[in-house]
Order: sequence, then structure tokens, then C-alpha cells
Amino acid sequence: MKKQLLLLLLLFASAVANAAPDGEELYQRHCSVCHGDDGKGGVGAPLSLPSFIDAVSDQYLKITIRVGRPGRIMPSFPTLSDAQVNAIVEFMRAWSNVPAVTHNPEPIIGDASHGKALFAKHCAHSTPYLVLLINLSVISTAGRDDRILT
Ligand code: HEC
Repeated sequence: MKKQLLLLLLLFASAVANAAPDGEELYQRHCSVCHGDDGKGGVGAPLSLPSFIDAVSDQYLKITIRVGRPGRIMPSFPTLSDAQVNAIVEFMRAWSNVPAVTHNPEPIIGDASHGKALFAKHCAHSTPYLVLLINLSVISTAGRDDRILT
């Protein structure tokens, strides 16, 4: 009888240890203080806005959680397991009602002559301020998806 009880206890303990991580609980514990309980933002950027969550891939969210934004307020979370990061992303994904975007993982091959023509057209005779604005928009666009200037 004692043996059976011990076995039951062991089974219960291993079930608890193997339970799938709770994404909502993890989000509330690690993220909500800055991003808000419902992802609407605070110190941290709003994450549940359709203009954000619908535009980013799961991979983008996972990498952001892992490495944070070095030198900025967004911390990195190197000690969370892959299963925990996945659970947080799954919880965040439920803020959106469209499927997650996926991006082509192939590297973008640059075209120097096209770049030269674009530079001549948009940058060469512009004021430095406009050049800066164009560069910033290219950087922010390239960071999130595969679009390039045409
Ligand atoms: C101490 C506050 C803080 C905590 C805790 C925090 N974040 Fe952030 N997060 C920020 C800030 C501030 C930014 C904006 C970073 C920047 O300046 O680019 C950010 C940016 C982000 C971004 C990128 C947004 C974009 O526009 O690309 C994502 C995704 C994100 N956080 C998710 C999370 C998740 C998920 C957690 C919990 C695992 C978390 N953050 C915890 C403050 C925080």
C-alpha cells in the first residue's frame, strides 16, 4: 500500500514537472509590468495593436524575448526555456485574429547598380535630413519584413 502511494506521488510530481508552461502566467510575470496586462503598452511598446502583432512573425517575437534590445529598456530573457518562450508567444498571438506572418528565410541579395540608381534618384541631391529619414525608414522596414525599395 505504501509503495502504491509513493508511486502515485511520484507520478503526480512528474506530471507537474512536465506540465506545459502557461503563456499567460509567464507573460503576466515577466512582461506585463512594462507592456500592460493586455499588451496595450506602458513603459514598453504596445504589443497587442494590430499594426504590430499582425505584422511580425513568431520568430521576431521569440528572438526579441531572447535577446531583448541591448542598450535599451527591453531586457533579455536568456533563462526562459524554449517551451516557455513559445508559450508566451502563443499567448501574445491570441491578441490577433489573423495568422502569424512568415518571412522568406533566404538572405536578400543586394543589387549594387539598383542601389546606385536609387541613391542618385532619392538621396544624392537631398538635404542630409531627408537622407536620414529615408535611411531610418529603410532600416525599420528591413528589420521587420522582407520589403525593399523598388
Ligand atoms: C523593464 C520593462 C520591460 C519588460 C519587463 C519587457 N519589455 Fe519588452 N520592451 C520594453 C521597451 C521599453 C521596448 C521598446 C524597446 C526599444 O526601445 O526599442 C520593448 C520592446 C519589446 C518588443 C519589440 C517591439 C517592437 O516594436 O519591435 C517586444 C516584442 C517585446 N518588448 C516583448 C516583450 C515580452 C514578451 C516581454 C516579457 C517576456 C517583455 N517585452 C518584457 C520594455 C520591457
